[in-house]
Amino acid sequence: MMSVRPRTAYEIQCMRVSNHLLREVFADLEQMIAPGVTTAELNLEADRLIRSLGGVPNFFNYEGYPASICTSVNDQVVHGIPDVSCVLQEGDIISIDAGLIYDGFHSDAARTYGVGRISGDARRLIDATEQCFFEGMKFAVAGNNLNDVSAAIGDYAEQHGFGVIRELCGHGIGGLMHEEPDVLNFRNPGPGLILEAGMTLAVEPMITAGSREVKWADDGWTVSTVDGSLASHYENTILITEGKPEVLTMTDEEKNCHPEVQ
Ligand code: MF3
Ligand code: CO
Repeated sequence: MMSVRPRTAYEIQCMRVSNHLLREVFADLEQMIAPGVTTAELNLEADRLIRSLGGVPNFFNYEGYPASICTSVNDQVVHGIPDVSCVLQEGDIISIDAGLIYDGFHSDAARTYGVGRISGDARRLIDATEQCFFEGMKFAVAGNNLNDVSAAIGDYAEQHGFGVIRELCGHGIGGLMHEEPDVLNFRNPGPGLILEAGMTLAVEPMITAGSREVKWADDGWTVSTVDGSLASHYENTILITEGKPEVLTMTDEEKNCHPEVQ
């Protein structure tokens, strides 16, 4: 299948460039997170910076999506639409999902941040969501089945009492933002796919503190938990290798604490 084929060396280099640029967007937005900031301001800044880096926001107008990033606050899981009336409050958690196209190659990542001081429960949720990703990374090696990555993510979440969203998943990424294969975040009986060096994937656990049931808002985009519990999202674009996966959207500083990736 064309879209699952390993990338050429040239394509891999282009993917690195696109994804490294996206790190700068997160470094910038992270500084802005504070009580009183609106999600519209975050969107405006992300859009400005992506374009000033020579990229194009790949979310903007994706199937009609009306902004350049997704900002999902508290019980919103993903695809929250930035809005001038959404003012961050002390104690909120906000996930920012962003991506760009550079020279025809896509990047995609998400981080969940606390606004000021957050509850212990919120911190544990955010940390567990990140750990789900790293549990998956232990299996994200050429020759393994992608299903082992999915199972590791989902099992970690459920063993720690968290819910795993079933309706949304990660994906292949490269010349398009969403390519095959789907990267599920839970143990599943599908045939899966044998990973090959050079494949590029967006792996993105979406985890809730309560029930895993979600609902869509009337805006057609915003996904929230049905029970109102907090939700968290953590996503990186990765490159499969013969050894540890290369995480294209993590900074060296972030990687320092995570020996399971390079
Ligand atoms: N990063 C998101 C994902 O992979 C893409 C969001 S598309 C948008 O699911 F249109 F909602 F922006
Ligand atoms: Co994605």
